[in-house]
Amino acid sequence: MKTSSFITLALSTTLVFLLSGCNEGSTSSAPSSSEVDLATLGEALFFDTNLSEPSGQSCASCHTAANGFADPDSNLSTSEGVIAGQFGTRNTPTAAYAAFVPAFIYDVIEGLYTGGQFLDGRASLLEDQAKGPPLNPVEMHNPNKASYVSKVAAASYAPLAKKIFGLNVFDDPETAYDKIARAIAAYERTKVFSPFSSKFDAYIKGTATLSAQELEGLSLFEGKAQCVACHPTRPTADGTPGLFTDFTYDNLGVPKNMAIPAYAADANFTDIGLAGNIKVIADGRVAENRGKFKVATLRNIAITGPYMHNGVFKTLKEVVSFYNTRDTNQSRWGAAEIPETVNRTELGNLGLSDAEEDAIVVFLQTLTDGY
Ligand code: HEC
Ligand code: HEC
Repeated sequence: MKTSSFITLALSTTLVFLLSGCNEGSTSSAPSSSEVDLATLGEALFFDTNLSEPSGQSCASCHTAANGFADPDSNLSTSEGVIAGQFGTRNTPTAAYAAFVPAFIYDVIEGLYTGGQFLDGRASLLEDQAKGPPLNPVEMHNPNKASYVSKVAAASYAPLAKKIFGLNVFDDPETAYDKIARAIAAYERTKVFSPFSSKFDAYIKGTATLSAQELEGLSLFEGKAQCVACHPTRPTADGTPGLFTDFTYDNLGVPKNMAIPAYAADANFTDIGLAGNIKVIADGRVAENRGKFKVATLRNIAITGPYMHNGVFKTLKEVVSFYNTRDTNQSRWGAAEIPETVNRTELGNLGLSDAEEDAIVVFLQTLTDGY
């Protein structure tokens, strides 16, 4: 977590607001018709299952609205690609509220990395992120940009792309690929992905009351359990409701997940997280960032299981018990995937009772949109 979170957060959310125009508390004017067109094109792209090789998988296959924009198959630790039996090594995170994640930077004042898309921040903004999945062999599996772009050029919504970007949009696969990514990002910046419509949001606005147990959970979350140190709850200075992430990176000491083929196949397989991000390597800060992953938003967390970068925990109760007893019940949790950089100060021995763990779980269930 950061120490001067408040100031940095206020600055970064202003940046995101400028980019996204989907800030709740703002009085920004309605989006222009070209912005609407771009997001409409992005929506068509996001759901199009013809854009994989072979066809059958879209962004929405792994980021489904009814599942908080995470993978609908909560029994799988990681998602299956369009090629049957091919699995990635990371649990699919929600794509909701990703529009608020600031660009990937090294914060010199704090001396740590913040922001960025993917669990290691290797794509700075949504526009960069959307260029990954189409060519990823364990996701949409297109052999190259030209192959993907030709599928878009043949789609029913290709005329809309030509209207926005010009009749020659598909002539050069390199530039077309970037434009397609911009449209997808524009859709991900709409309120569809960031509705702020949970019971907790209604409570903050004064239009709903939390039960005694939910309130106890909130109070523990912000107090004794210290969750708020990394998952901020309250609106920022510009009125953006709490995003439940400070966009920093941490190693919680999560164990390996042998249910993932890559871990099962090779006893030495570890996911080094942030340290694998090429910019970190260039900066020479590899060792201290091994095993760190981006703090996840907890919005919609009750419907986006399993949990953590490798999906090792199936339930929220397990997650909260892990935070509570990681250091006092080591035999239950097993060794950390990467022990050297584990955060030993803010979690691991919280002294919560079983009932207090339950209250935190019940509070987390108030973060599901559509209340
Ligand atoms: C096969 C499943 C799968 C498909 C298909 C897929 N994703 Fe993802 N998505 C993932 C996984 C897994 C990650 C995390 C990967 C990592 O951190 O290395 C991710 C990460 C993301 C993130 C970053 C979220 C964060 O918290 O950093 C966004 C945004 C996203 N995907 C959007 C998309 C878009 C847009 C598409 C289509 C172009 C897409 N995804 C296709 C599985 C998938
Ligand atoms: C020191 C910072 C820190 C603190 C304190 C913290 N978390 Fe986290 N949290 C993280 C990071 C980092 C991740 C992602 C870790 C990973 O993927 O391996 C995470 C992930 C999670 C997840 C899983 C998210 C997902 O989509 O898989 C849940 C649930 C969660 N935290 C809840 C809590 C609760 C409840 C508390 C308080 C008991 C808490 N956190 C305290 C940093 C923190």
